[in-house]
Amino acid sequence: MAVDLLIRNVTLVSPAVQRVVNIFITDGAFSAILTPGPLPFAPAAETIDGTGLVALPGLIDGHVHFREPGLTHEETWLTGTRAAVFGGVTTVLDMPNTVPPTDSVERARAKLALADLTAYCDFGLFGLVGGSADQVGELAGSGLVVGLKTFMGPTTGDLPSPDEDLLFKALEHARVSGLRVAFHAEDRATIEAARSHETRTDPIAHLDTRPAKAEVRAVERIADLLRAANAMGHICHVSSALGLHTIESWRGDRVDLTCEVTPHHALLDRDVYADYGGMAKVNPPIRGEPDESALLAALADGRIDTLASDHAPHLAADKLRASIWDVPSGFAGVETLLPLMLSAVHDGRLSLERLVHATSEAPAKTWGLWPRKGQVSVGADADLTLVDLARAGEIHAADLHGMNNLSPFEGRATVGAVVTTIVRGQVVVRDGVLTGAPGWGRPVTTA
Ligand code: NCD
Ligand code: ZN
Repeated sequence: MAVDLLIRNVTLVSPAVQRVVNIFITDGAFSAILTPGPLPFAPAAETIDGTGLVALPGLIDGHVHFREPGLTHEETWLTGTRAAVFGGVTTVLDMPNTVPPTDSVERARAKLALADLTAYCDFGLFGLVGGSADQVGELAGSGLVVGLKTFMGPTTGDLPSPDEDLLFKALEHARVSGLRVAFHAEDRATIEAARSHETRTDPIAHLDTRPAKAEVRAVERIADLLRAANAMGHICHVSSALGLHTIESWRGDRVDLTCEVTPHHALLDRDVYADYGGMAKVNPPIRGEPDESALLAALADGRIDTLASDHAPHLAADKLRASIWDVPSGFAGVETLLPLMLSAVHDGRLSLERLVHATSEAPAKTWGLWPRKGQVSVGADADLTLVDLARAGEIHAADLHGMNNLSPFEGRATVGAVVTTIVRGQVVVRDGVLTGAPGWGRPVTTA
């Protein structure tokens, strides 16, 4: 067997075990994973010494906003996927609130064509539940999207939330097409009522207009509809212990509901508003304790399925506006997800195996990419992230590789760093240096 790339003597982490192995890659796929010993094949074209490093299945970030088309002053496929590969992320799934939104077959095709030109890593798209039911049905059945996305309340892009009729029909279309529907679960009426009598303009006012009960109400309504339509749902970026509790209470009840958490909801405290002001504004809001620890614990024990960044960059000038109501929500995150969560592993708050599961097998199964993505096993795409678990670092926007890199993690110390990233057998980042080419990334959908 011809071997293109061999990673020698590396500690491979799967959701189940850790062991030292040699990993062989041929034609962009894993061709063998063997205990170190005499090599059974002809010498590999290229060898990387993995001694002292840990190999993770290439990360799948199931929630990014790469802004192209339409908002290319904030991010592009080139800069977003460049940040991704520096962060050890080998597959990204992009949300539909671009301009225009990804709400039709034609627009999904156009966005895939754009991504194809410049992406450094593999990519998939979510289709928006908007427009007409027929349009959603056509999009769901097109094979162009990994899932559908529904915004239940107001957020960046101010897309309308679908009414009950459209939502129910969308869920039926998703079921027929075997797709899961991702939800931004914040109840519009609850937020608008709180907002209508809010006169403060400081960052905490934003938090207070988006209470945990907005999340709870949205989850209740979503779960009810999912059960009625017998469809699969996913709650994006769970932000509160109450929201999580509501998800858990429905799960046992014949509702197929997965959920996700972000590093910012699981790691940031309320003092982030005093320290970072509008930079910390995001939907749903960062709540701090006791929600923060509850979410990290739920990720650690498997009640939360997936970990995703909700990478949502905006211009620094916009994030620094005086009134919180003039500040857009969201910030960069795709490149910092892994070092931040490796630090939680270092602190003993999360196992490495759980972190791996939540960034590989779980998102791959949630979004229909399994078994080709999300595991290091023979025949799967050779997506691999090599990390140094002991390397200390500090997060600074100036060192990151997206277009707008500021985040409320600025200045934070980390332990655990990405060394090398491999996408379908191609080394795209080697020892911290970009070696990949724009356009190497491929769509995960085949239509
Ligand atoms: C996201 C964005 O900017 O696109 N912002 C955010 O606060 N998370 C939109 C979203 O996911 O709500
Ligand atoms: Zn988002």
